[in-house]
Amino acid sequence: MPSTLLQTLKAADEARTAVGHFNVSDSVVLQAVASAARESGLPVIVGLSEGERNFFGTHEAAAMVNAIRDSHGQAIFLNADHTHSVESAIAAVKAGFNSVVFDRSALPFEENIRETRNAVQTLKSLNPAVIVEGEIGDIGTGSQIHEKAPDRLVLTTPEEARQFVQETGVDVLSPAVGNMHGMLKSMLQGTTQKRLNVARITEIKAAAGIYMTLHGGSGTNDDDLREAIRSGITVVHVNTEIRVAWKRALQDAFAKDDAEVVPYKLLAEPFRAVQDVVRRRLQLFNSAAVRAHST
Ligand code: G3H
Ligand code: ZN
Repeated sequence: MPSTLLQTLKAADEARTAVGHFNVSDSVVLQAVASAARESGLPVIVGLSEGERNFFGTHEAAAMVNAIRDSHGQAIFLNADHTHSVESAIAAVKAGFNSVVFDRSALPFEENIRETRNAVQTLKSLNPAVIVEGEIGDIGTGSQIHEKAPDRLVLTTPEEARQFVQETGVDVLSPAVGNMHGMLKSMLQGTTQKRLNVARITEIKAAAGIYMTLHGGSGTNDDDLREAIRSGITVVHVNTEIRVAWKRALQDAFAKDDAEVVPYKLLAEPFRAVQDVVRRRLQLFNSAAVRAHST
């Protein structure tokens, strides 16, 4: 099994599979993600946004992931997700995070390029092995339940992608290809799904020739995900599906027995629910290549 994140990305890219990236806010969800990946025999990336790091603790998350890696010998990597400042990115790299999503996508394109290039140089001077991802385009904010889709999500163009990658030196690119963060209520009810522009993914991959992350994986059509992975998506981020499964299972556990007060008994249900999401998603992310050969 590849031992570094870069080797893991390379292997996934060559096999036309994707590495699963799952966000965590606490140690229960982290253990659930790690154990599901371990049982599946697959590498996994655990991500914490700035908000999630503030809650969990940047050093605490790093220490726990290191402990899991050491005691189980599994390929588990830690990502500083959606990091908006160089200071916060530096803190994560110093704590031992393997990668940083440096997200200045809200800025005008040229400013985003300038700030991302600066972040790449600064972070790699601290740790040359750290993987830096840059973002372009608008994919909405928040791994939450939204009433309605954002009015206008502009797709990344192949030319923008090529220029951004060349001028910033990022290792990984996050494009806007029909994806968005969070889930609509209708997605929870199962009446709508996110749809991806797979042709655009193919064009961007050809123009930029770089590893690519699909953010906003929750609620995406399964076939679109498989096609996107075959077309060059190397990492898929999932957060809201985990949060929804966690909350529903926790509510069920609380409702079942009003007298139960033992945390590890109550938390066993959300633990299993998160494991289930991670198992299913990892299976799908690794099925694209298999189906490509069999069709
Ligand atoms: O960075 C996190 C993700 O992009 C998660 O998006 O909540 O729609 O799965 P999601
Ligand atoms: Zn994201």
